[in-house]
Amino acid sequence: MLKVGIIGVGSISKHHIKSYMIHESVELVAFCDINEERLKDKGNKFDVDLLYTDYQHLLDNDDIDAVSICTWNNSHVEIAIKALEARKHVLVEKPLSIHLEDAYALKKAAEKSDKVLQVGFVRRHGENVKILKTFIDNHELGDIYYAKSSILRRLGNPGGWFSNVSKSGGGPLIDLGVHVIDLCWYLMGKPRPMSVSGNTYYKLGNRSHIKNLSYYKAADYDPTLNDVEDLTNALIRFENGASLFIDVSFTLQAKQNEVSVKLYGNQGGAEIEPELALISEKYNTILNTTPQIDNLAFDFGKAFSNEINHFVDCCIEGSETIAPVEDGVEIMRILNAVYESARINKEVFL
Ligand SMILES: NC(=O)c1ccc[n+]([C@@H]2O[C@H](COP(=O)([O-])OP(=O)(O)OC[C@H]3O[C@@H](n4cnc5c(N)ncnc54)[C@H](O)[C@@H]3O)[C@@H](O)[C@H]2O)c1
Repeated sequence: MLKVGIIGVGSISKHHIKSYMIHESVELVAFCDINEERLKDKGNKFDVDLLYTDYQHLLDNDDIDAVSICTWNNSHVEIAIKALEARKHVLVEKPLSIHLEDAYALKKAAEKSDKVLQVGFVRRHGENVKILKTFIDNHELGDIYYAKSSILRRLGNPGGWFSNVSKSGGGPLIDLGVHVIDLCWYLMGKPRPMSVSGNTYYKLGNRSHIKNLSYYKAADYDPTLNDVEDLTNALIRFENGASLFIDVSFTLQAKQNEVSVKLYGNQGGAEIEPELALISEKYNTILNTTPQIDNLAFDFGKAFSNEINHFVDCCIEGSETIAPVEDGVEIMRILNAVYESARINKEVFL
């Protein structure tokens, strides 16, 4: 049995908790949170007795084999390094860090350790993504030379720490962009990023005055502080000539929310969001193919359980994770360059 603890039991932790609880080789034994009331509530709700307000005390428990780190972005690296030093396997939520130097420090610690360090790139584990990856690996798209993705929320700044740059590292780019930049980069075959041109906008604030529409909020929602951007766009060029364009927002004067992920190759194209679709040509005719699968869209719950199952397999079998620390670092290099490019108003070379 793999004994697991969760550090940070706010909103996203329930997906980790549920997936561990139904895993037959896992015993979920401990929770940690600096918010004692939330910690006790979650302990009662999920029947977990070992409750800690200090993560170091959880890590000092030698019975615990692995941890999920679901805290604010600014504490991921510190806790992950301490967890590896305490000889735990680590699943750390995205983004890896808020500062690039910290991401490198975690990579160094992970390389010294024989424990698993998996980054929470949950979208890599979506069923529709896994199917598309099989098609890509079998060269159905040929060379993917362009990818394009948007996650545009017209009203969706989660407030609290998410909109406090010292705790989050930024707004929609580091929170939402991280997922789709990673997903496109992963499906494009992880080409080496060469340069980045980005823009950030601080025009609308968090639009917390808007009534009659509900949206995702942090466990400690507070709309009074907001120093993150509303919108980011970026063009990322890769060494192999491919490029990726993204735009992501927390608030925007848009007619509706939008999520799209599209990849274009010389043999075929694909969409993952809003639904899996494959585009090709045969006998001088363009074909739009709809795979016959249970769910064409991204199924968050299923992707989470796939992610946790993969992490547990890596811990138990000693196999390689598909989301290693070096990928987390590479994505941080890109995110960092987008913010830097927006700051200096110029293209940044990596
Ligand atoms: N994979 C995904 O799709 C996804 C979705 C949402 C959030 N996330 C990530 O998960 C993490 C948490 O996000 P959330 O939405 O659950 O936030 P949240 O605010 O709801 O929960 C975070 C919890 O961590 C606790 N915490 C903060 N610092 C701590 C520390 N040093 N020790 C112990 N507890 C601490 C807070 O008290 C809070 O209960 C973030 O890194 C976020 O980017 C990932």
